[in-house]
Amino acid sequence: MNLILMGLPGAGKGTQAEKIVDKYSIPHISTGDMFRAAIKEGTELGREAKAYMDQGKLVPDEVTIGIVRDRLGQDDTNNGFLLDGFPRTLAQAEALDALLDELNANVDYVLHVEVPQEKLVERLSGRWVCPTCGTTYHTVYNPPKEEGVCDKDGTALIQRDDDKPETVKKRLEVNIEQQKPILDFYNDKGYLVTVNGDQAIDQVFHDIDQRLNNLR
Ligand code: AP5
Repeated sequence: MNLILMGLPGAGKGTQAEKIVDKYSIPHISTGDMFRAAIKEGTELGREAKAYMDQGKLVPDEVTIGIVRDRLGQDDTNNGFLLDGFPRTLAQAEALDALLDELNANVDYVLHVEVPQEKLVERLSGRWVCPTCGTTYHTVYNPPKEEGVCDKDGTALIQRDDDKPETVKKRLEVNIEQQKPILDFYNDKGYLVTVNGDQAIDQVFHDIDQRLNNLR
């Protein structure tokens, strides 16, 4: 099961990815998570990525394609993978095609989680994440049992640096501009499945899951 999860910032990709990989036991490959891990570790990659992420800009294609190439080459992707937040430019989509050809693999579905743009700012400004396990919460739509504390491991929740209002505005602008050509690219190939992301979290997953059941 080789899947790509697309959607604008705040559409719910990370939230749905957690449920998909849990049910289907495939690795979750999130370029955003990989960059955040590199920042936390203080690596050269992290320093480079942070300079772009803090401004709401995309990390350059050659860097991003490089880390995905390394990750997809690992053995745990042999039975499938879920790419989250990649590709995000047409150049990345074309590079992924070439990479999958090399690996003799195909994409099964590109799941596009669609949410009206006016809802995204509210979702991002209310988001809290666990710095230990990465679980995502929302103050209104998906609150933790105890305010400010992760249900899974009791860690104090934090807000992401790039969820500041001015960075969110830039992230949305950049992603809106880049997304359409990629959706067209995958639509032309017949891979694109659009899911209504403007519903309760469990209902969105139910709709995704129905499509994925066809692949079993
Ligand atoms: P990345 O981490 O990928 O961020 P993003 O795409 O901006 O997406 P988000 O993580 O903000 O949102 P999401 O869709 O996962 O939503 P979530 O589930 O958290 O990328 C960060 C940065 O890294 C980029 O800006 C760029 O600089 C760099 N980068 C990453 N990939 C790159 C690439 N390929 N190329 C170049 N640069 C790259 O949900 C959001 C909130 O809404 C949560 O609070 C959640 O609880 C809530 N929520 C979720 N679903 C629902 C629902 N159905 N109803 C109500 N609330 C909901």
